[in-house]
Amino acid sequence: MRILSGIQPSGALHLGNYFGMMRPAIELQALGEALYFIADYHALTTVQDPAALRDHSRNVAVDFLACGLDPARACLFRQSEVPEVTELAWILSTVTPMGLLERCHSYKDKIARGFAPNHGLFAYPVLMAADILIYDSDLVPVGRDQKQHIEVTRDVAVKFNERYGEILRIPAPSIRDEAGVVKGLDGQKMSKSYGNTIDLFLQPKTLRKKIMGIVTDSTPVSEPKRPEDSTIVELYRLFASAEEVAVMEAEFRAGGKGYGEFKGRLADAMEAHLAPMRARREELLRDPGAIEAVLRAGAAHARALAVRTMDRVRTAVGLR
Ligand code: ADP
Ligand code: TRP
Repeated sequence: MRILSGIQPSGALHLGNYFGMMRPAIELQALGEALYFIADYHALTTVQDPAALRDHSRNVAVDFLACGLDPARACLFRQSEVPEVTELAWILSTVTPMGLLERCHSYKDKIARGFAPNHGLFAYPVLMAADILIYDSDLVPVGRDQKQHIEVTRDVAVKFNERYGEILRIPAPSIRDEAGVVKGLDGQKMSKSYGNTIDLFLQPKTLRKKIMGIVTDSTPVSEPKRPEDSTIVELYRLFASAEEVAVMEAEFRAGGKGYGEFKGRLADAMEAHLAPMRARREELLRDPGAIEAVLRAGAAHARALAVRTMDRVRTAVGLR
């Protein structure tokens, strides 16, 4: 089974990225041949500062390794080191109905958030389809918001196969719903573009300060509180055992404890989970050459697979 996923280097990675995509992807590396890449071509649709793009790309690689991606098991590479994927995107675009792209939420959301409606942003799902199809992927672990893009990929692959024969493998999404959508400091979906993130690799003090900034209502300390709509409890669930969560929920309902105390407990739980990853990251940063070597070896492996698919595709469509 081949497992593939990508993440855009468009800023520092946060808890939503970690629980929605990175951790599930890392767990899957034991189950098959995993390929994970840094979607730098995609990031160009919104990051147009070369120094920032380079920095973010390097950081995503380090973060992924620090979170547990094992380069002996999974292949990690930069999307742009396999330029064949842009050729496949072009070929796929010729069988992609406009209506399919016009329906995509991600494009409409980005425009609504003020990004210039460039063609790359519109054609984004076609490049993503090429990413997935060029490696004959079976399974694509992503957060729920990417589900529509996988559906587009499947539709495009079916259209291509209807016209040219059974050339492309149809992939399936793998969406882990237990983490659901991770909430940000303001209770909305955690997202870089909402400025409500808790980044994965903050220093302990900064992390604690962020958590203290979680928005709560003004229920007095002595009063009972509702765990059901609390961002504190939701985040705690990601780091604590079921028993620990049950204790916090009971204490919410009982009254007598303030939000500050619960936030402190959340901060302790997060710190316990994140400290070893932070230490591993610092160790990795001491050897930048080793990170480059991982990326280069990953790209060589991925590119060899991509070239084979492109051979099939070029022949099928009559480009040779
Ligand atoms: P952002 O919204 O911060 O720009 P991306 O769109 O780059 O994040 O998402 C990268 C990956 O992380 C995707 O697979 C996405 O589904 C997942 N992801 C992002 N935010 C969350 C969240 N709040 N909860 C769960 N998964 C998320
Ligand atoms: N669109 C994905 C995101 O924003 C990143 C991505 C690009 C991707 N190509 C992919 C994810 C291929 C899975 C498979 O998170």
